[in-house]
Amino acid sequence: MKTKKFLTANLKPGMVSAEAAYTYNNHLVIQSNTTLTPDIIDKLKYYAVKAVKIYITEDGEPDIANENQEISLVSPPSLDIDGSTYFERVQQSEEFSEFKEIFTSSVDNFKEELNDIVVKNGTDTVTEMLHEVDNILSKTRNPLHLLDMMQCLRSFDDMTYMHSMNVALICHIFSTWLSLPEEERDVLVVSGLLHDIGKLKIPEEIISKPGKLTDKEFEKIRSHPRLGYEILLPKDLDNRVKLAALQHHERFNGGGYPSKLTGPEMSNFSSVVAIADVYDAMTSNRVYRKGMCPFTVIATFEKEKDLYEPSLLYLFMKRTIEAYINTEVILSNKERGKVVLINQNHLSRPVVIAGNKTYDLSKDFDIDIAALI
Ligand SMILES: [Fe+2]
Repeated sequence: MKTKKFLTANLKPGMVSAEAAYTYNNHLVIQSNTTLTPDIIDKLKYYAVKAVKIYITEDGEPDIANENQEISLVSPPSLDIDGSTYFERVQQSEEFSEFKEIFTSSVDNFKEELNDIVVKNGTDTVTEMLHEVDNILSKTRNPLHLLDMMQCLRSFDDMTYMHSMNVALICHIFSTWLSLPEEERDVLVVSGLLHDIGKLKIPEEIISKPGKLTDKEFEKIRSHPRLGYEILLPKDLDNRVKLAALQHHERFNGGGYPSKLTGPEMSNFSSVVAIADVYDAMTSNRVYRKGMCPFTVIATFEKEKDLYEPSLLYLFMKRTIEAYINTEVILSNKERGKVVLINQNHLSRPVVIAGNKTYDLSKDFDIDIAALI
């Protein structure tokens, strides 16, 4: 679609930004693909953003967002009259039903394909797997839309297959953010799809045991990176795919397994898969009906930052959290507010305006973001 720069003074509600807009000192004011509202336009004026690139139609007219685009995950809408939360609204949307349908059938196909890889050479099966990923991607608008859709699927089963598909989709998002060429992107996505293939060699009763694992069972689970590597080693696959299976539980500070590698010893793609794997695990261990607050996820990553490749982790956190600018939130002191600025040095603690008060959460540690509205 075509784009054109509009002076902020000439912006109208309903226009859709074609790129992110920043303040003079590089604070993000709006993400790309944000549907402008009177509030957002006021904010752009307040922060003295001179002009914004806007999507236009073929005849040069601004492309005004239709009502369906209101559930923009980049700029979530404000509280509905019925008081439903952000994630509940996503779950009720038609596009989510379509996404769920495609996701479920693609994961079903992927389940068979993953089992095939164990016994076959793999090249054809890998092409089929990539096709499943493309199918899912065709139902999403942009990386952040995809992350939100995945969050909303959490009330369903979390099995190895679904987890692997999620990790592959997150790898795809990374490839976009890293501007990887197509071939590299496919290698990274396949690394995500196959990273846990070793779990297929572990008895189902251990994998899905609800209670605490015995030491022996725990050791068995921890053998899945090596088992996966052994499965993939003879296959005609890029070496980085095999290494991702072997190294995705290694940690940047040397605290991982099986070989206690440190960051520079890991393949770069293994480092991406490690972040994607933990993100998916982190977001699936909770009750998802209301969706986990992304600021909590990022706060956890900030605490554990020594475990992951720093530039990849920063990229992931920054790009994820920037999507929530303009989001309405509930603070831990029960006040309702709006995220207005992301602190580049403390991504999980943005500036929030609540009524006539401004909270800079990077300085005010007594208050947290409790939930997205
Ligand atoms: Fe794993």
